[in-house]
Amino acid sequence: MTELYAVMGNPVAHSKSPFIHTCFATQTGRQLRYEKILVAPGEFPAAVKDFRARGGQGLNITLPFKREAWELADTKTARAARAGALNTLWFDKDAGLCGDNTDGYGLVRDLIRNLGVQIAGQDVLVLGAGGAARGALGPLLDEVPARLMIANRTESRGQELAALFHEQGGVAACGYPDLVNTAFDLIINATAASLDGVLPPLPEKLLRPGGVCYDMMYREDETVFVRWGQSHGARIAVDGLGMLVEQAAESFRIWHDICPQTDAVIAALRSPGTS
Ligand code: ATR
Repeated sequence: MTELYAVMGNPVAHSKSPFIHTCFATQTGRQLRYEKILVAPGEFPAAVKDFRARGGQGLNITLPFKREAWELADTKTARAARAGALNTLWFDKDAGLCGDNTDGYGLVRDLIRNLGVQIAGQDVLVLGAGGAARGALGPLLDEVPARLMIANRTESRGQELAALFHEQGGVAACGYPDLVNTAFDLIINATAASLDGVLPPLPEKLLRPGGVCYDMMYREDETVFVRWGQSHGARIAVDGLGMLVEQAAESFRIWHDICPQTDAVIAALRSPGTS
């Protein structure tokens, strides 16, 4: 029997999730249909209900509904509770609407497994303090970096986020002007500004020689942050396409109880005109 899955967001037309999940399904011999559902503001709870009534089994949630999904879920995993947002939903007859957040997992897996980047013992900087940054912090801290700093335009928002993760270890926050005379091994961009070609003001020597720049965002051409990394001596400067596939693989595992292979899917998405 064909199972029904979907991604909900606004906008959603650009989503690569149907391509990725269809690849995983082919690879693992599952029969599924994966839709894109454009949801109007204020309509998210009704859209989830409608999807369930149509026999839907699982949902990926993208912007701007990740927080609303968190509020709507009856049951959340521990990492989702910590992330304050959900990107994966499924229906369970006992636990009701269940939710997880696989974004941070996807980020860390892309860094460590796919790119061979070490996080343990490294000085790590996260740019931004919105939902994307929050989802990344727990899984990054789990890898025990030497230092985890959040830099944000609105410094108070960074401080609030650091306070939320205080119990989990050394995380601090600052404004961009405070980054002068500091340097990091790994800089992760979690500001959506990168998609509009806007870069926070970053000091010239912020990245240690041979360091890594990772942009959680992705677009068809290089992001402005990836270009910044390339011109500032990064050993690796890469966008979030690998993270996108890894977070999808983790959603797939939750729904189907099988881990799909990601390498070929990442390679396919990197080749022009595939999805
Ligand atoms: P998301 O859930 O996608 O992370 P968000 O909660 O709106 O979205 O957060 C966006 C992040 O990008 C914030 O850290 C924001 O900084 P502020 O908290 O100061 O608003 C950051 N951001 C957005 N535009 C920016 C810009 N032009 N320069 C620097 N930071 C920017």
